[in-house]
Amino acid sequence: MCGIVGILGREPVADRLVEALRRLEYRGYDSAGIAVLEDGTLKRVRAAGKLNNLTARLAQANLHATIGIGHTRWATHGGPSETNAHPHIAGNVAIVHNGIIENYAELRDRLAARGITPESDTDTEIVAHLINIALNEGMKPKEAVLHVLDELRGAFAFAIIFAGHDNLMIGARRGSPLAVGHGEGEMMLGSDAIALAPFTSRITYLEDGDVVFLTREGFEILDEERRHVIRPLQFTQAASLLVDKGGYRHFMAKEIHEQPDVLGHTLGEYLDFGTGRVKLPDMPEGLDLATLERMTITACGTAFYAGMVGKYWLEQIARLPVEIDVASEFRYREAPLKAGGLSLVISQSGETADTLAALRYCKAQGQKVAAVVNVPESTIARESDLVLRTYAGPEVGVASTKAFTCQLMVLAAFAIGVARARGHLDEAREQELVHALQQAPRLVVQALEQEERIAAIARELAHAKDILYLGRGINYPLALEGALKFKEISYIHAEGYAAGELKHGPIALIDENVPVVVIAPRDALFEKTVSNMEEVRARGAKIVLITDEAGAAEHGAKAFQTITVPAADTFISPLLYAIPVQLLAYHAAVFLGTDVDQPRNLAKSVTVE
Ligand code: F6R
Repeated sequence: MCGIVGILGREPVADRLVEALRRLEYRGYDSAGIAVLEDGTLKRVRAAGKLNNLTARLAQANLHATIGIGHTRWATHGGPSETNAHPHIAGNVAIVHNGIIENYAELRDRLAARGITPESDTDTEIVAHLINIALNEGMKPKEAVLHVLDELRGAFAFAIIFAGHDNLMIGARRGSPLAVGHGEGEMMLGSDAIALAPFTSRITYLEDGDVVFLTREGFEILDEERRHVIRPLQFTQAASLLVDKGGYRHFMAKEIHEQPDVLGHTLGEYLDFGTGRVKLPDMPEGLDLATLERMTITACGTAFYAGMVGKYWLEQIARLPVEIDVASEFRYREAPLKAGGLSLVISQSGETADTLAALRYCKAQGQKVAAVVNVPESTIARESDLVLRTYAGPEVGVASTKAFTCQLMVLAAFAIGVARARGHLDEAREQELVHALQQAPRLVVQALEQEERIAAIARELAHAKDILYLGRGINYPLALEGALKFKEISYIHAEGYAAGELKHGPIALIDENVPVVVIAPRDALFEKTVSNMEEVRARGAKIVLITDEAGAAEHGAKAFQTITVPAADTFISPLLYAIPVQLLAYHAAVFLGTDVDQPRNLAKSVTVE
């Protein structure tokens, strides 16, 4: 999603703004730009497409200003063109914006009534005009911004500079994240700490509703009620979070291969090595896992599929009924939730707008909210009663891989903890399950060893127009995840189905041109999934069977290709079967030459609805 940076510095800022924007590239964008204040005047350089287009233009511009703002834009209002790229300038105001202004049409009509026609199709430019009008009416910049903020509905983060004000930058956040960076004699704004990491590790995160006024000497924050507030200064490790590919061709490849390591790290945080049992953080006051009647899980995309696997674990092992929904639906469903119950949200970024809204809905219903998140400083982490952290490290590739398996690891540990609290797990069985989880990193290494063979199969799948993924039981969510991964980076249509649902409609799609990827460990449901595989085989489909050695020995011959995953306790099979589906998607995309790490139209952190 869009990225913001602002620097109020002592040195020329143009190159530094671009350096910061590079670190925000992972969020996904389709145009970029910067605006600086040079000798009191606003100057702007923008370009559609990737940052290299912007740097090529900047090379001609020869800017020496020490104050500026920059932006990577992921198109919402208006297509990805230079005209729609940020910063937007109206008179003496330059602004960059993340989020969506919901009452945009009404505000635009107000400008029209004054005879002002915006240049771009964006909601952002409207805000620039409104602030400029307020300045023209005699307000000072601070007053003008506060005045206009009151008029806006929707979610946003802004960084704003003003012609003639060389020592002022204003930031505001409602919904979208924004952080203040503290340098030596300079101040910064960024949509996350990673953007500012080259310049500072001292960060103050703004809260929802905050407005910040920066000068080179310091800053002042007003909260939603416009009272002066002090937000804590934090030291982040973002600087040490190397945003490089570590010798891999893509971040996604690096992140797939980091899984044994980050899974081990994540599990380590949830294990008591002395007893071989699960160790959960203290539960929030008023939450008793033993007497819990039901639980709700909400998330989006890949995190949602992790939640689906979590539902199987919690229901099967902990005997806890779980309701699960995608956050974008759940937030408007007005689901009745019994006060004192538990809602769990899952989010890599911790900033996904729909998941955050679902969290707030649950809290308003008197629920305790637990969050499985990868970014501990994120809004979702900060607003939850209980944080169950994944230790995946920064995930840069837009397609989630290591965050997904780490979410699974945390959910597995959580299910074990809940099962114990509810008296459904004796010590010996708990140790067995924990032992199975401890095997996961080693078995993931073995699964990764199949990469070359999987790459060859992926190259064949890359010729298809449609692909089906089938799975049953706990591997059904893996079929959904496999299809999502495949379509989002290869742009080939792929669908996941519960294997048993096939004959209720989708089987009509099957012919010799539709490959079917069947995810089927040799478990209690194996024979049933194989029957479904036979049904599609009989209709000419080419089968890629992902199974273990026992499964391959029994039915591998029926498949066009078989991928073998190491045999393991069925409890951890989703963790292992994630690897071949990720590699299939990755290698098909590499073969097709798509932008693997930043696939078209997608953003890493979806901070709009
Ligand atoms: C797909 C993918 C997305 C995210 C979804 C939620 O590969 O990454 O489907 O899982 O946008 O994002 P988070 O987990 O940040 O809430």
